[in-house]
Amino acid sequence: MMEKLKQSKVAALLKSTDYDRMVNVKGWARAHRGSGKISFIALNDGSVIHNIQIVVERDNFNQEMLKGITNGAGISVSGKLVQSMGKGQNVEIVATEIVLYGTADQELYPLQKKGHSMEFLRSIAHLRPRTNTFGAVLRIRHALAFAIHKYYNDRGFYYLHTPIITGSDAEGAGEMFRVTTLDPVKPPLNESGEVDYKEDFFGKATNLTVSGQLEGELGATALSLIYTFGPTFRAENSNTPRHLAEFWMIEPEMAFYDIQDNMDLAEDFLKYLVQYALDHCIDDLTFLNNMIDKGLLERLKSIVEVKYERLTYTEAIAILENSERTFEFPVSWGVDLQSEHERYLVEQHFKKPVILTDYPRDIKAFYMKQNDDGKTVRAMDVLFPTIGEIIGGSQREENLERLMQRIKEMNIAEETLWWYIETRKYGTVPHSGFGLGFERMVQFVTGMKNIRDVIPFPRTPNNAEF
Ligand code: 4AD
Ligand code: MG
Repeated sequence: MMEKLKQSKVAALLKSTDYDRMVNVKGWARAHRGSGKISFIALNDGSVIHNIQIVVERDNFNQEMLKGITNGAGISVSGKLVQSMGKGQNVEIVATEIVLYGTADQELYPLQKKGHSMEFLRSIAHLRPRTNTFGAVLRIRHALAFAIHKYYNDRGFYYLHTPIITGSDAEGAGEMFRVTTLDPVKPPLNESGEVDYKEDFFGKATNLTVSGQLEGELGATALSLIYTFGPTFRAENSNTPRHLAEFWMIEPEMAFYDIQDNMDLAEDFLKYLVQYALDHCIDDLTFLNNMIDKGLLERLKSIVEVKYERLTYTEAIAILENSERTFEFPVSWGVDLQSEHERYLVEQHFKKPVILTDYPRDIKAFYMKQNDDGKTVRAMDVLFPTIGEIIGGSQREENLERLMQRIKEMNIAEETLWWYIETRKYGTVPHSGFGLGFERMVQFVTGMKNIRDVIPFPRTPNNAEF
């Protein structure tokens, strides 16, 4: 018996030129063809989009075992890494030992056929990571997550873990999911006959957070530069290709940054992430460019090179009003922009990413810094081609009186925010921040049409199976 070989990753072996040595790989067969003296197994271990070819001299192996190696089977192969004469690969492995861990009945295995629709693959989210497309998406998603931490760490930002269960409706950013341990059938009632949340686990009503921003501001007003990167939850019933009920958000918050600094950071950050993907994920991006979106690579490269257009909401409304286009949702000053308006500005008018600032006060959150015109706030949204809004942010209102005035005008329960308000009482400073929707970023970088296909297990109305 040979000494046990250390497992190698397919990604590393495909790049290796250290031929004629014994190696071991483990993974899942994608195909097994040929049945005469020699057969070929295409083996994938998820480390890279490509398969490695295993050459099997069939007489050396148990025939029943070989029959069990079909698409989907899990196997371990030891053998000699040799330079390949075949087209499309540099190396292959001539097998000397094969262990069949688990078969996959070809009559039943849902991935036996190729070319499944995205809809069908969503219904088998437990298996779709084994497809080329989802393998590519998940590796790119990982690379972007890593790049986000690297970007902020390299620039002196601290990763702040903000709570997922919260007692405040952070910003009215959407309907919230209630977190409770009360009996759903017979909850305790107070004197006015309402559910008595004093009896609940936390002694008050709590929800899943829609954003880590408010706690992020507490961190920034001590550590200066922080970012959060965590799951957020919105119970909005929007069945669109850009909304999830559970999505991940990156929220940097910077003391002493004004809106200009905020925009500069957002633009630099987005470009860095796209460049990181181009530098580290080119095999997967090339696959997606060929199979999913022929314009992908070109779009990614252009986003890194151009200077984003910056204009105010008021200027954007004028452009939309003067456009020849009829929109499903009519535009006028004061309306919230819809995805069709955002995409018109980006894709038709400017043909590059756009940063809009100074939105009407009445359609934005209470914490945004008020401009002197009494009508607008120092908000900024970054709009991207194919996506629309990818980032939302603002300079924050640091003036206590002005903040309190907005809290009152908007009927926000002040007593749930006393801790937030105290940052404006004690050493208040100008500060700014923004939120990047992680899945929208992954969508942009991968070219995937539907946001449900860039998160392993999407949460949307009526869908929490896996
Ligand atoms: O614009 P939003 O609601 O901003 C905030 O939550 C602020 N607290 C951010 C901040 O200033 N720190 O959300 C930020 C981003 C959006 O631009 C969008 O990319 C994404 O989060 N997003 C969603 N992504 C997927 N599904 C949803 N339902 C989303 N809602 C927002
Ligand atoms: Mg927004």
